[in-house]
Amino acid sequence: MESVQISLDERSYPILIDASLLRGNSAFDSLPKSHAAMIVTNSAVGPLYTDALRSALEQKYDRLHVVVLPDGEEYKTWETLNLIFDALLSNGCDRKTVLFALGGGVVGDMTGFAAASYMRGVQFVQVPTTLLAQVDSSVGGKTAINHPLGKNMIGAFYQPRLVVCDLEVLDTLPPREFSSGLAEVIKYGPIADMAFMEWLEGNMEPLLAHDRDALAHAVRRSCEIKAWVVGQDEKESGLRAILNFGHTFGHAIEAGIGYGVWLHGEGVAAGMVMAAELSCRLGLVEPAFVERLRTLIERAGLPVKGPVLDAADNAGRYLELMRVDKKSEAGEIRFVLIDGPGKAVTRPAPDTLVREVIDACCA
Ligand code: NAD
Ligand code: GLY
Repeated sequence: MESVQISLDERSYPILIDASLLRGNSAFDSLPKSHAAMIVTNSAVGPLYTDALRSALEQKYDRLHVVVLPDGEEYKTWETLNLIFDALLSNGCDRKTVLFALGGGVVGDMTGFAAASYMRGVQFVQVPTTLLAQVDSSVGGKTAINHPLGKNMIGAFYQPRLVVCDLEVLDTLPPREFSSGLAEVIKYGPIADMAFMEWLEGNMEPLLAHDRDALAHAVRRSCEIKAWVVGQDEKESGLRAILNFGHTFGHAIEAGIGYGVWLHGEGVAAGMVMAAELSCRLGLVEPAFVERLRTLIERAGLPVKGPVLDAADNAGRYLELMRVDKKSEAGEIRFVLIDGPGKAVTRPAPDTLVREVIDACCA
């Protein structure tokens, strides 16, 4: 079993990575015994893995409740969040209850937010079941729900107690979802580690074939890079923003086209090409670098062009949506750009240049 540590003083925790973690029962050994726990899952993941998680946990908790949420990004809302609170309250769950997020990033983000606010905070554990959640969303404590006017706009920083990444569960993931997760894996190369980008270029086929060793390496290295960033800047006062490479354009795509139509990683993929293209037009990277990134993204089965959101003024619509990005300051959009391969910087860019990039990168 591999382990990566998130080091945040008293909020530190391990990320465990291996196959068959849910089928064994040692992954949860470090958790203290408590009288009640609640597994939060959704209608797609629940039937596949709730029984395994229940078996792994039943020695530890006297009462083990399960709440099943509707499946999909379009349900990452106040209404769905309330289903978790309804279940906790109607089952008489007190502040010692531990929440287990069993699912992808949507379940993880909502369970984390519920844990942050239920009785002013209860402990929670992430059991991520998508590649995206294993390499990104379950790690680092960002929790949120969407608002019709903007993605992940309502939320809190709240760290889990433990993250358990079972590589075997990725075998039931639809290929499109797997590719969506690869977008978040790929992002770590250009922003922090060109050796990892090279490794991905040499290992895309084994990864797409779910080769266990390749997967273990990709998940571990992604988590290590994220741990390094989060350990220095937990609440995104600076450095952590680099993890949003591709997300400013990507969030505009997701919100503009309607949540759930493009997957999060698909928006990030097209968004990374746009952000790299913008970096290039600002003289920060060579065109060859943009081409290299575009090729890798394409090989992962991901889109490299954004959708047209408004036939009359597409760039205007993107700009409007991007102004509500959380990195915006006084209406000025701040982009995560590549400042030479392997290094990222956050800065504004002239609207004229951004419009040129959008015109060149949408179809
Ligand atoms: P998701 O949670 O919607 O999961 C994708 C789909 O796969 C869903 O239909 C889900 O039910 C299904 N699924 C999950 N695991 C499965 C399995 N093992 N087998 C079969 N089906 C399975 O999407 P996601 O891509 O995991 O996460 C995207 C979300 O994560 C977005 O809301 C995004 O904003 C958020 N996110 C958060 C952070 C963060 O730091 N908190 C980082 C990146 C993304
Ligand atoms: N996914 C971006 C972050 O965790 O900061």
